[in-house]
Amino acid sequence: MKKILVYGVALAFLCTTALVAVANDKGPAEMTLQATVDANKKPKPAVFPHAKHQEKLACGECHHTKGDDGKQVAFTDGMKIQKCETCHNKAAGMPKGLQTFKDAAHKNCKGCHKETGKKELTKCSNCHPKKK
Ligand code: HEC
Ligand code: HEC
Ligand code: HEC
Ligand code: HEC
Repeated sequence: MKKILVYGVALAFLCTTALVAVANDKGPAEMTLQATVDANKKPKPAVFPHAKHQEKLACGECHHTKGDDGKQVAFTDGMKIQKCETCHNKAAGMPKGLQTFKDAAHKNCKGCHKETGKKELTKCSNCHPKKK
């Protein structure tokens, strides 16, 4: 009887760890984004409350990956999440408007912020706060 219980607990433990292994690590809650490849001469970091966005949005709104053919592949649970710059850099041969971190971020971040219709969200200073 005791043995069965021990096995049961071990099995339950294995199942939960297996589940955790499938789900993605959520990454940092708060981020300061700064291009390192193709960066502007004058750095312009952007603030990004990651966790706040994760509360309402699916990971695939922002994260995706690339297939062997170089085409975009949609987000799937458990996929490897890479930095935007890994693919969105000038050497990678991306189409115009998606060639740098700035390009990709502005299209993704500003694009959605524009759709919300909230003007304050599209202001430069919303993401690039002025230095105090
Ligand atoms: C919704 C958020 C958002 C808004 C609004 C926004 N940006 Fe950005 N911007 C980013 C992110 C994210 C990056 C990429 C990370 C970084 O700063 O390097 C970036 C990158 C940049 C860069 C390159 C910085 C570097 O160090 O290489 C410049 C320049 C820039 N933005 C200018 C602007 C200007 C000017 C405006 C207003 C007209 C603006 N941005 C509005 C999010 C935003
Ligand atoms: C609104 C856009 C957005 C959403 C939604 C979002 N993320 Fe992110 N996430 C980002 C950006 C931007 C970065 C920074 C990427 C970079 O530094 O190039 C990031 C970074 C990460 C990182 C760290 C990657 C690294 O190598 O530094 C992980 C892990 C991650 N996200 C997981 C998730 C998961 C899991 C979800 C869904 C629960 C999610 N994200 C939802 C935009 C988003
Ligand atoms: C593993 C490579 C890879 C990574 C990492 C990556 N992208 Fe992309 N992304 C692509 C490819 C490939 C395309 C399609 C380009 C084309 O149209 O030919 C694309 C297209 C896009 C587009 C335009 C199409 C759309 O979905 O709206 C945006 C915006 C974008 N990426 C933003 C981002 C942001 C923001 C990040 C980081 C959170 C990121 N990408 C990370 C490969 C990548
Ligand atoms: C798919 C939609 C979407 C995308 C993509 C997105 N955002 Fe947002 N973001 C929102 C919405 C909606 C809000 C307003 C949230 C609220 O007020 O609760 C917001 C709010 C913000 C705020 C203000 C937070 C606050 O506390 O008021 C910042 C800063 C921000 N986003 C930065 C970014 C950056 C940087 C990116 C790209 C890396 C990004 N966002 C991508 C939808 C998006």
